[in-house]
Amino acid sequence: MITPSGVWLSANMIQHDILIIGAGLAGMRAAFEGITAGLDTAVVSKIHPLRSHSCAAQGGVNAAINPKDDWHDHAYDTVKGADYIGDQDSIDMMCSEAPQAVLDLDAMGCPFSREDNGTISQRAFGGQNFPRTAYAADRTGHAMLHTLWEQAIKLGTKVYDEYFLLKITTDNGRASGAIVMDIKTGQLHQIKAKAVCIATGGYGRLFASNTNAMTCTGDGVAHAMRAGAAAADLEFVQFHPTGLRNSGILISEGVRGEGAYLIGKDGERFMHKYAPNKLELASRDVVSRSMTTEILNGNGVNGGVFLDVRHLGRELILERLPQIRQLSIDFEGVDPIDQPIPVRPTCHYTMGGIRTNKFGHSEQLQGLFAAGEAACVSVHGANRLGANSLLETIVFGKITGKDMVDFVKNREGREWPSVDSADVQEVSGLIAKLKARPSAGGVKQATIRHELTNAMQEYCGVFRDPEGLNKAMAAVQNAKADMENVFVDDKSDAFNTDVITAIELSNLVLLAEATVMAAITRTESRGAHSRSDYPNRDDANWITHITSTVKDGQIVLGRDNVRTLDNPKYAPAERKY
Ligand code: FUM
Repeated sequence: MITPSGVWLSANMIQHDILIIGAGLAGMRAAFEGITAGLDTAVVSKIHPLRSHSCAAQGGVNAAINPKDDWHDHAYDTVKGADYIGDQDSIDMMCSEAPQAVLDLDAMGCPFSREDNGTISQRAFGGQNFPRTAYAADRTGHAMLHTLWEQAIKLGTKVYDEYFLLKITTDNGRASGAIVMDIKTGQLHQIKAKAVCIATGGYGRLFASNTNAMTCTGDGVAHAMRAGAAAADLEFVQFHPTGLRNSGILISEGVRGEGAYLIGKDGERFMHKYAPNKLELASRDVVSRSMTTEILNGNGVNGGVFLDVRHLGRELILERLPQIRQLSIDFEGVDPIDQPIPVRPTCHYTMGGIRTNKFGHSEQLQGLFAAGEAACVSVHGANRLGANSLLETIVFGKITGKDMVDFVKNREGREWPSVDSADVQEVSGLIAKLKARPSAGGVKQATIRHELTNAMQEYCGVFRDPEGLNKAMAAVQNAKADMENVFVDDKSDAFNTDVITAIELSNLVLLAEATVMAAITRTESRGAHSRSDYPNRDDANWITHITSTVKDGQIVLGRDNVRTLDNPKYAPAERKY
């Protein structure tokens, strides 16, 4: 097996056939395809790959691997969950490829939980009509990421870990590579590549209460937009029903899949009022709205309700839900074996991302690919089903990786693009300007982040209304103005997290503006986008994606068709659970 190391073109310039930004599951799965096809493939990550946010995914990965299940049913559940705005070509591809993608991981050694007969265990998850969620206790993302990391080591994958993305470079409408910072030294490098894949995850840190790692600041999506790619579906932000009340840390839907239920302040269940058939296992948008309604109507305690696990018994909790027990003890002071867990809806996932075709290729910027949460290949539409996220990473990591290989070997990607060292000068000039700005008269980045994320939480969250959305937009405009005066205290080069978080914040501000613009524009309620002034779904006008591009520094919205199939089974219908 080759051990790719890139070709140094000069002291600061290196080239690889394929450059992947982001070392979570999608990035690592894509890298596997590049390397095993014999291409010089490199992965850049601002943290060590095993710290990637994929590691935090708990409950499982969907796949119709049970002989009694059928991938078409999985596809139908996904289309319905997406509130009929997911692209059906991508959804069919994801669901039909799902069993093989999971079995690939199994063959690589992923330690899935097993039944006594040796088959992979599966549990129920929300919005689905079959228990098709394969899992490794409540640490599924952790198990999968370590498995792909082992493969990366075995194959000698070149990983630039602790390198931070600063710009995606272009050459005449084609992605040509990236400018990255070696965090350890502060030195900038230009990486030239024939194909570039963004796999940097989502931007859940835009909301004050979230389940996301500190790193989920949408860097790749923001830079792709600046480079000329379109993003889509940014108005659709998922609130997971069960984040811990105080910290927002995830308590897996798998807990409800095992039989836990929600109760209000008097210990009474309430989901029968909102989803009489599926109850706690309705889709996430439905459960989050139900909980928020109960909390607003006074049935909560300190801004949350409770997830009751006690009846599942100590043995099951210790065997299948050990992590959520420990998180509840450590962060909420509650042992779920004896007490209900205080929970509230918490920002979990951004359905929008870089708009791509079903192979993960941008249509605006040739040679730019995206996979995982950073992408809008559009399998989630207006609301993602739980456990379709891990699935998206491994299916579209694989498919996008293969398409990049094909692009580089057989299509326009055969030729090297040109790169311009002026890009490095430009980025280094911006960093120098940030460091030179005096604190006197400046604004602290923590202040900007605090005000922006709180406004997004309050005004662009589970329920939205025109007055709130206008307040959110005002907060975004303030943040934009303040970013012109943001200063950093740390002027050094080595491990300058002050500079890095300021740049991450600029990415969040861009995505905040596009998110609020799209939320104001979509005058209907669909999936996770719920507007009090437009409470109904409006299929006549809104079966369309809202796209966001950056032109002359301004965000411009557009529309893109939802890719449907000639299949009446997936035609829009009233969504009930
Ligand atoms: O609840 C969970 O375990 C999260 C899974 C997911 O977001 O797919």
